[in-house]
Amino acid sequence: MDRLGLLGDPAVRSAVSTDLGRTIEWHAEIRSTQERARELAAQGAGPAIVVADHQASGRGRQGRAWVAPAGSSLLASWVLRPLPADPALFALLSGVAIARALADLGVADARLKWPNDVQLSGRKVSGSLADAAGDALVLGIGINVHQRDLGELAPIATSLALEGADIDRLALLARVDRELARIAAAPEERRAALAEWRARASMLGREVEVRGAGGTPVRGVARELADDGALVLRTASGDQRILAGEVSLLR
Ligand code: BTN
Repeated sequence: MDRLGLLGDPAVRSAVSTDLGRTIEWHAEIRSTQERARELAAQGAGPAIVVADHQASGRGRQGRAWVAPAGSSLLASWVLRPLPADPALFALLSGVAIARALADLGVADARLKWPNDVQLSGRKVSGSLADAAGDALVLGIGINVHQRDLGELAPIATSLALEGADIDRLALLARVDRELARIAAAPEERRAALAEWRARASMLGREVEVRGAGGTPVRGVARELADDGALVLRTASGDQRILAGEVSLLR
């Protein structure tokens, strides 16, 4: 049984909020937790998480939609205050938080695809989205949990259920939150998480194509992840630092 819906009960929500040290807002249905968390950030909210069972208009990276049937996924946005010292890097390291949370729940082999994807068996199981909102960072995370059929996304996406893991979304939320808090806590934690990102990277050393927003695709070998989170690509004309874009494997 999945316990995430228990957050609809004010007593449970209050107990979990106290446990996590963040206000929790629960929605059975909302347009987007990311939009709502941005509103809360603009109102000056303290540490908060907006959680939904279903989003009518979920947002993905680069203007895409994020679609998930009601009850299928962990859909949550964190208002992180104070703003982490290195927001872009923190957003990238959210993949490490998710991978660690999954490992804690028995799913050990998550790999990370630059910048923010978590993969199982070479397919995307989770993505995250980071928006600066004044002096807060709004970090949205979507994890495919219970889907049994991903339709046309099946060649590139998966869910925990499809990987054979029956995971409770409330347990997953608590663990992701704990790992995000750990990574936010201290520079040495971020250094350790960066090392773990590199160890879990699915594309380092491979030949890739990177498409930036509206730019010409760049091809090269994904050489390394720089300390600031940039992807260093060895191209025919030398090393290039990529700050944003979509990466696909060439071979
Ligand atoms: C991606 O494209 O990989 C990022 C997906 C981020 C989806 C999550 S689901 C919870 C939060 N609310 C949104 O509207 N988007 C993020």
